[in-house]
Amino acid sequence: MKLEGRVAIVTGAGGGIGSAVARAFAAEGADLCLADLGPVPHLVAECRALGRRAIDVPTDVTRHGQVRDMVQSAVTALGKVDILVSVAGTVSFGSAEELPEAEWDRVLEVNLKGTFLCCQAVIPVMRGRRYGRIINIGSVVGKSGGNARPWLDRSELSRAANVAYGVSKAGVHALTVFLARELAGDGITVNAVAPGPVASAMTADFPEQLRSLIPVGRMGTADEVAQACVFLASESAGFITAEILDVNGGMWGG
Ligand SMILES: NC(=O)c1ccc[n+]([C@@H]2O[C@H](COP(=O)([O-])OP(=O)(O)OC[C@H]3O[C@@H](n4cnc5c(N)ncnc54)[C@H](O)[C@@H]3O)[C@@H](O)[C@H]2O)c1
Repeated sequence: MKLEGRVAIVTGAGGGIGSAVARAFAAEGADLCLADLGPVPHLVAECRALGRRAIDVPTDVTRHGQVRDMVQSAVTALGKVDILVSVAGTVSFGSAEELPEAEWDRVLEVNLKGTFLCCQAVIPVMRGRRYGRIINIGSVVGKSGGNARPWLDRSELSRAANVAYGVSKAGVHALTVFLARELAGDGITVNAVAPGPVASAMTADFPEQLRSLIPVGRMGTADEVAQACVFLASESAGFITAEILDVNGGMWGG
């Protein structure tokens, strides 16, 4: 198993990608601290059924104190933190022209500040043991600058991820590279996975026609994102840091 004996925190664990990451990590031998806004008892039970230790620590990643307490709970209950997978996120739709200021703040707060607070909270724990794997979830939209569909058909604009989402994910990519350089001498790698459209609650309203814009001709699966995270969290990826790994079916290669 690729993650045997490792302890991982997964935020956004109740969502499509977060729960897939938790299952994949448990299958590869990791013990888990599962953090989402509310409890995730079924996921805890699934991980325990695989023979892993798992704790359920409801956490709002935008709250510094809650994030700090969640990391402390992981250390207390599971002994250490080897891996952070920062998956918690939110999306919003619509044109930049109509985006309310409060929506900009909400999206940046969850996706960018929340990711930062989680990374910041695990640094001293990982540094102390001179080992760590931090994996953030970015997005193809953070690289490409937007969904091509509304530029082809402006009537689709209201269903395209908006500028706040793309900017927040570009920020996650920059944060990832910055931290990778800062922590490179401490045995800690920091990478991001940048998914294209993945079937989940977040993409439930995605236009069916969008598939035609994905070169492989289908949306991704949460497990395909999870397996990229397993690789980046594994021993095999020890020389990979500051990488933003595309998992997007060929939508964007930059
Ligand atoms: N689904 C896609 O197509 C896609 C593509 C690219 C990137 N992503 C990114 O992947 C991540 C997971 O997305 P998903 O598709 O699983 O969506 P999802 O909506 O199924 O899951 C998101 C999870 O984050 C949690 N969350 C939201 N705000 C939180 C907060 N303040 N504190 C703690 N948890 C919070 C939600 O409760 C939810 O369980 C997100 O960061 C998203 O931006 C998704």
